[in-house]
Amino acid sequence: MDLSITIAGVRFPSCIMNASGALCVTREELLALGRSHIGAIVTKSMTVEPRDGNPEPRYYGFPGGSINSMGLPNLGYKAYAALIPELKAMGNPVIASVAGLCEDDFLTIAATINAAKPDLIEVNLSCPNIPGKPQIGYDAEASERLLKRVRKVITVPMGVKLPPYFDPAHHTIMGDVIGRCGVDFLNLINSVGNGLVVDPDREEAVIKPKGGFGGLGGTIIKPVALANVRAFWKIFEGRIPIIGTGGVVNGVDAFEHVLCGASAVQIGTVLVEEGLGVFARLEGELVAQLRKKGYTKLEDFRGKLKEL
Ligand code: DHB
Repeated sequence: MDLSITIAGVRFPSCIMNASGALCVTREELLALGRSHIGAIVTKSMTVEPRDGNPEPRYYGFPGGSINSMGLPNLGYKAYAALIPELKAMGNPVIASVAGLCEDDFLTIAATINAAKPDLIEVNLSCPNIPGKPQIGYDAEASERLLKRVRKVITVPMGVKLPPYFDPAHHTIMGDVIGRCGVDFLNLINSVGNGLVVDPDREEAVIKPKGGFGGLGGTIIKPVALANVRAFWKIFEGRIPIIGTGGVVNGVDAFEHVLCGASAVQIGTVLVEEGLGVFARLEGELVAQLRKKGYTKLEDFRGKLKEL
C-alpha cells in the first residue's frame, strides 16, 4: 500500500509526521526523528534567540488530550539553519517551522533558514503561549502583512500553520488572506489556545505558566481540527494542499483527516505520550483502514467526505 504523498512538488515517503513542538527541539531529538518511520522531519518553531521557554510544569497529558504552555523553547534559528543539511541528508523532507516574537523576527529567520534550503518552510502564525503576545493568526491584517513580507524572502514552498477558527466568517476572511499571499500549503490546526485543565483534588491548575492557561491538543480537539481542514479544503476546492494536525492518535483518525481533505497528518500529543514507535503503529492502522475500505491510495478518498 502506498502512503507516499506530494505537497508543493515535494515527495514525502509517508503521510504521517511529527507536529512542530513534539520531540523536535534538540539536535538529538531531530536526528532520532530522522531515524524513525516518518514522512518528514518538522523542527520546533524557532525564534531569533535561543529560548529556555516557560517555567515547568508546562506540559500535561491526560486521558483525551494534553495542555501545554512551552513558551517556544528552541535553539535559535542559527542552530537550526546549521542542522538542516545534516537532517536533509537522512533522506526525508525537512520542514522548518518559523516563528518570531515580532514581525521583523520572522523576516530575519526566514531569510537565513531559506538559504539553508529546507524542503519546505512552515510559517507559524499561531503560538498561543507567549505572555502578552496575541496569536497573529487571529489578526487578519497582521497575518496578511507578515505573509506578504516573508513570501518575498522564501523561495522554497511556503506553508502557514494557522490557529483553529470557530466561525465560518473567520474561515472566509483568512481564506481570502491566504489566497492573496502565495501560500503553497496549509497546516491546520495549531493547539486550541488558552484552555485550562484543573486538578480537583489539589485544587490547582496542572501547568504553571499563565495561571494554568495553555494550548490543548489530542483527541479532544479532533472535531475542531477536522472542521478547519474541511472548511479550508472547500474554500480552495482542494487547490492548496493541507496538512491535518489535531487529534490523530490512531489510523482511523488519520483516515478522517484525509476524508476531510488533508494530504498528510501531523501528530503531537500522541507522539509525546507514546514515543517514536507511534509512527509505525499509525501507518499500520491506516493501511488496515484502507484495506477494509477497499482503497489502494489516499487519492481514492481525499476530500470525499459525504454530506447528508
Ligand atoms: C508553542 C506552542 C505552540 O502551539 C506553538 O505554535 C508554538 C510554540 C510553545 O509554547 O512553545
